[in-house]
Amino acid sequence: GLPTSVSVYEVGARDGLQAEIGIVATEEKIRFLLALRDAGLRTVEATSFVSPRWVPQLADAAEVLAGLGDDLAPYPVLVPNQRGLERALEAGATAVAVFVSATETFAQRNLNMTRGQALEAAQSVAASALDAGLTVRGYVSMCFGDPWEGRVAPQAVAEVSRSLIDAGAYEVSLGDTIGVGTAGHVRHLVDVHRAHDVPVDSVALHFHDTYGQALANVHAGLQAGVRCFDASAGGIGGCPFAGTATGNLATEDLLWMLTGLGIETGVDLAQVVAAGARMTSLLGKPTQSRVAAALG
Ligand code: HMG
Ligand code: MG
Repeated sequence: GLPTSVSVYEVGARDGLQAEIGIVATEEKIRFLLALRDAGLRTVEATSFVSPRWVPQLADAAEVLAGLGDDLAPYPVLVPNQRGLERALEAGATAVAVFVSATETFAQRNLNMTRGQALEAAQSVAASALDAGLTVRGYVSMCFGDPWEGRVAPQAVAEVSRSLIDAGAYEVSLGDTIGVGTAGHVRHLVDVHRAHDVPVDSVALHFHDTYGQALANVHAGLQAGVRCFDASAGGIGGCPFAGTATGNLATEDLLWMLTGLGIETGVDLAQVVAAGARMTSLLGKPTQSRVAAALG
């Protein structure tokens, strides 16, 4: 059956903004993050401590964290390597996310490392972060299909997930980076994780709506027992290193469906709509959320 509550992990300020060319002012990023927290989202990923040459939009990561108040636990940050972790620690981060690819090609395009090197880097960053008392989330990208390699074997994904859990990640977020996954594939992927000793309560799902499948995939995830879903206010996002990747599942659309199913999230939809509208208008783009567009 369906759960009575789920958590929504907001990624708009990080996964959303990383692909945007026009630089958003630091104060606007801070305002966006605070508004999303204020709307009731418990976890709002704030930024990335990646190479500013690779992702210029997020070069102000330390300044963004400095504007978020004293408790940074609700604001995890993405880190690719030890240098990123050092920067995150200096900025006061208490929660980090590490990321690896299920496929070889994307590991090289996104991190300039082989898949094996990327996994080792993530494991070493996780170990250092745990030593420093931080919490660690793991992301796995290209869990369904890869633009260069085609369909991705669920076993390969589950092995990577298992390695991240062994490295101390409290949860792995399985990314459908290019949005090609469908509902049956979601169910199968979760089953394969269970078979690899990755319990469903440490699995989160991260969908992109490129092929219009994101909500159907969330529903399949709910039925398979998943209780955490990533989403982006205004549906902003994409990955600059993943070719055809478009926006993430919009937080507004996810909330609408969950509310309709009687599932508690503790999030105020109107406040998310307002935060998403301000950010998409700053970006000079229409909202990617069907719900936000319909509510006007
Ligand atoms: P590289 O060019 O191979 O790096 O990039 P390097 O180690 O050779 O270093 C080159 C320069 O970058 C050096 O500086 C380093 O100090 C500096 P220089 O000596 O030339 O002045 N450097 C850094 N500076 C600041 N912060 C750092 C850092 N590291 C090195 N952390 C690297 C390798 C991993 C750095 C690069 O490939 C990188 O930053 N990649 C991140 C790309 C990214 O952010 N991708 C998007 C996130 S993942 C995603 O979107 C998927 C996800 O959302 C889920 C889904 O949708 O599937 C999670
Ligand atoms: Mg994403």
